[in-house]
Amino acid sequence: MKKFLLVLLISISAALYAQRDYPLIPRPAEVLSGEGHFFMRNDTKISYNRDTTGAIAEFLAEKLSVPTGYSIARSKGDGGVIRLLITDKYDNLLGKEGYRLNSNPSGVKIEANTCAGLFYGCNTLLQLFPADIMKNSATETDWKIPALEITDYPRFRWRGIMLDVARNFFNAQEVKRFIDQIAALKFNRFHWHLTDDEGWRIEIKSLPRLTKIGACRVKRYGVFGRRDAPKPGEKAVDCNYYTQEDIRDIVKYAAEKYITIVPEIDVPGHSMAAVASYPELSCTQDTSIKVSPGMEFAQWFGDGTFKMFVDNTLDPSNEKVYEFLDKVFGEIAELFPGPYIHVGGDECYKGFWEKDSGCIALMDEKGYEDVEQLQGYFMSRVDKILSSKGKKLIGWDEILDVGISEGATVMSWRGIEGGKKAAEMGHDVIMTPTSHCYLDYNQGDQSIDPQIYAGLRVSKTYSFEPVPEGADTKYILGGQGNLWSEQVPHFRHIEYMLYPRAWALSEIFWSKAESKDWESFSDRMFHFFERYDSAQINYSKAVYDPIVKVSSDDGQLFLKLFSELSDIDIYYTLDNTMPDNHSPLYSVPVPIPDGPVILRTRAYREEKPVSHMLKLEKKELLKRAGIFQ
Ligand code: ACM
Repeated sequence: MKKFLLVLLISISAALYAQRDYPLIPRPAEVLSGEGHFFMRNDTKISYNRDTTGAIAEFLAEKLSVPTGYSIARSKGDGGVIRLLITDKYDNLLGKEGYRLNSNPSGVKIEANTCAGLFYGCNTLLQLFPADIMKNSATETDWKIPALEITDYPRFRWRGIMLDVARNFFNAQEVKRFIDQIAALKFNRFHWHLTDDEGWRIEIKSLPRLTKIGACRVKRYGVFGRRDAPKPGEKAVDCNYYTQEDIRDIVKYAAEKYITIVPEIDVPGHSMAAVASYPELSCTQDTSIKVSPGMEFAQWFGDGTFKMFVDNTLDPSNEKVYEFLDKVFGEIAELFPGPYIHVGGDECYKGFWEKDSGCIALMDEKGYEDVEQLQGYFMSRVDKILSSKGKKLIGWDEILDVGISEGATVMSWRGIEGGKKAAEMGHDVIMTPTSHCYLDYNQGDQSIDPQIYAGLRVSKTYSFEPVPEGADTKYILGGQGNLWSEQVPHFRHIEYMLYPRAWALSEIFWSKAESKDWESFSDRMFHFFERYDSAQINYSKAVYDPIVKVSSDDGQLFLKLFSELSDIDIYYTLDNTMPDNHSPLYSVPVPIPDGPVILRTRAYREEKPVSHMLKLEKKELLKRAGIFQ
């Protein structure tokens, strides 16, 4: 009888707590379904049990009050319908960022060891409400969430997004909006790329020219990288930077969202703005060098190597450079309480060093045979400066090439090999390879999406595995998406480039590897499209767009159409008419007729057009088969 009851009990609880796929991103570690729903009402109250979590209760109350029009009250104690609780006893499974969320018809309880965990639990709770919860004004709907039990904690401790504010600047309000958005996806690092050839964006009080000169460039429009260089005597009127007051305010704001900011000062290359401000820091000491407005200043050879036309490097043999860096990093260290400072180290052209008498003398003195070794020397000097300020160095994976400092953390961007090698050498690693994590790459077809030199579809991003095969997981801190801003002129386009790929990365960095499931993710992505529509946050729908490939077999061209999604119908025409769902439905490769044929193609889902219409002329079709005319 006892056994029978046990089996009965297990079957009932299995039915009650069946695993279901809720529209949550990132997917929680464990979700058990319950019976019924919790309904939020005008008199729903939030309680919190520690003074330190009052701000989280306030955050949640605000998020719930705005779209509902209710005035959700909050108070210290344990008597709310929505209860936020810091555990009395540390729960090892949850760790520093995990939480448990329990909802049933009588209320919601979120428990965590830490404030961060509680904050993440609140963000999950918000995702359980209907999409209207993202609205910025009051709406009428059934404010209900399903009864369930979630136990959740992250896979990686470093879950980052980088934003470049040098190529295009985003003001303090926009940076805060960016922080809000990534925090809601449980990212916990904001890597702030603050300096580059196109602008120095942070006030350094002891070096005022960095912002007086380095933050200003001549006004230019049009495609970045193809713009005209500054003309002699032309005024640099396009000026933008953050004051130290702005920075302090943003650092505090980020901390309230459990985000640590990692500032990047990119040296010794990518330093044209610094050189324009203080020409004596470069080998050429060329006083005509100006901040680049997005001009072409290098020749790229297609294999990652390049030649600079303008000297944008700091001189590693000049002691004044280290005095300069001591001042810069001294002020940066004061402003940013996090343990790391990112010092760049990427794409440093050595052509000017090679010819410089000071660099040649330093190479002789040190017995260096290769000019690359000067970068190792430079980086170790920078590492000493950071150590003297109590900070740890992070650099792009070029810092591995020659003499990496002990204790340096490597950001693997040129692929995964750098990360693998660094981990083998016992260095901490953050994985951010171009192949999966470069959010500046366009997401769909080059014929539709704003052009950039490479593409990266959301399904590819979602396929990312941050731990390289054979690597010791203990060195892989996590991963990061990088949004370089050359082609990102305003905030709506930040959003367009981030989503849905940042959703994919949030899941890759937070969720268990074994729960990865593209079908499930794409379903949840459709829900998130609705949610972001409610919030009026921009995103790309390129995932719907057909993927067009062309092959050539014995002179005959074949059209091949694909989709990232499984429930998509792709229609096409080759007869210069507009495709709809009565046009030919793609199923197998289609021979492309001779002549000036034009392909038009569009994807449908559930009988509705969902994609852009792609239009490719014969010349482009031939190009895709590797035939250039
Ligand atoms: C980089 O993309 N240059 C790190």
